Amino acid sequence: MSALLTPFMARRQHLLAQMQPGAVAVLPTAPEAVRNGDAEYPYRHDSYFYYLTGFTEPDAVLVLVAAGAGRAAQSILFCRPKNLEREIWDGFRHGPDGARATFGFDAAFAIEDLDGEMARLLADAPALWYALGHSAALDVQIKTWLAAVRRQSRSGVAAPAVAHDLFALLDEMRLIKDASEQATMLRAAQISGRAHRRAMAAARPGMYEYELEAELLHEFRRSGAQSPAYTSIVAAGANSCVLHYMANNAQSRDGELILIDAGCELDGYAADISRTFPVNGRFTEPQRQLYELVLAAQAAALAVARPGLPYAGMHDAATAVLAGGMLELGLLERAVVGNVDDVIAERAHQQFYMHGTGHWLGMDVHDVGAYRDIHLAGKPSRPLRAGMVVTVEPGIYVRRAEGVPERFWDIGIRIEDDVVISDDGHRILSDNAPKTVADVEAAVGRS
Ligand code: GLY
Ligand code: MN
Ligand code: MN
Repeated sequence: MSALLTPFMARRQHLLAQMQPGAVAVLPTAPEAVRNGDAEYPYRHDSYFYYLTGFTEPDAVLVLVAAGAGRAAQSILFCRPKNLEREIWDGFRHGPDGARATFGFDAAFAIEDLDGEMARLLADAPALWYALGHSAALDVQIKTWLAAVRRQSRSGVAAPAVAHDLFALLDEMRLIKDASEQATMLRAAQISGRAHRRAMAAARPGMYEYELEAELLHEFRRSGAQSPAYTSIVAAGANSCVLHYMANNAQSRDGELILIDAGCELDGYAADISRTFPVNGRFTEPQRQLYELVLAAQAAALAVARPGLPYAGMHDAATAVLAGGMLELGLLERAVVGNVDDVIAERAHQQFYMHGTGHWLGMDVHDVGAYRDIHLAGKPSRPLRAGMVVTVEPGIYVRRAEGVPERFWDIGIRIEDDVVISDDGHRILSDNAPKTVADVEAAVGRS
């Protein structure tokens, strides 16, 4: 295995090449978290750590040493030692030797050896890279290691004089998804698209939101996804106007829309898909008008989802369509708010569209990576590049309010797809989830 260059090893090499000769990087995985009593939350590794290792056990730390002074670069893992007694209770552990061979590290040690080894590895290292200001526990450990190195100063050993933010390098790397990441994200999105189709097929007026949530979970797990990537939103009727609705405990009624925002996590990568459908399988005229408007806004955003164009252009395009539609349909009154430009300048559309049109998507649902070029004057929106993955998720949310036409009350709609920017445009990863009015109506209530 270690003879092959895995994507994880390639990423470690890429990171090491960006560090000063002899510099050391330290990256722990996530801690386990107590849920209550002696029960723990299902364990989820740290995304950065996984990106560089592929290793999913808790109690692990990656240390990278950049090449320098005649020494080759080194990737070192610290992890739980083999323990047959504990493995009877908790399951398999790779142990240092197994992890080294399976994951292609140059060396591996038991996690108990970390403090001693760090005092050795940091001796005379010119710089230390770690996640600045993210973990009080890591800050304390680093202080201990540096103190141990400084105690050797009389014998001429120097401690690192400079610290750098490791995440600044990793965020940029994570922003551009490599081929293996894109393949996993396609699978995650397709599983999630099938889950949306399954929920639509199961829908009947009178169903509880949690019954539809169960359909999503069923499809995620039967397809091999480990979990939802975030708490699923299943919102019937007026609940669809609550952006982060998570109670999922209300009963649907005939004539209502259901808004579902749900995606699975597969092998560490998230999908994030929203669909909205009439629980009885037929849009009312006001529902259809708003649905078509959101769909047109999404099409406008997708039309500018290609390399070289600014990230923010997608939001601008969607917002222009939505604002125009709000005037056309009478949600906003021209006599009061003026034309489309006035609406956008005064942000009048935010009464009904109050969120952005998307975000980076990857291992984290709201994935890492800068949205603006901070090195240019005015910090403009970044140009899209092949390998970036974004969500495109316009919506409209009409709460009951004086002055708002009653026929639109309690209608909340979001249409969200996962999109990878390609050399010549983009590819929609979630294209198997029904989306046109005809496809959605045909999909509802079919099981
Ligand atoms: N599901 C979270 C989002 O759409 O951003
Ligand atoms: Mn979403
Ligand atoms: Mn999203």
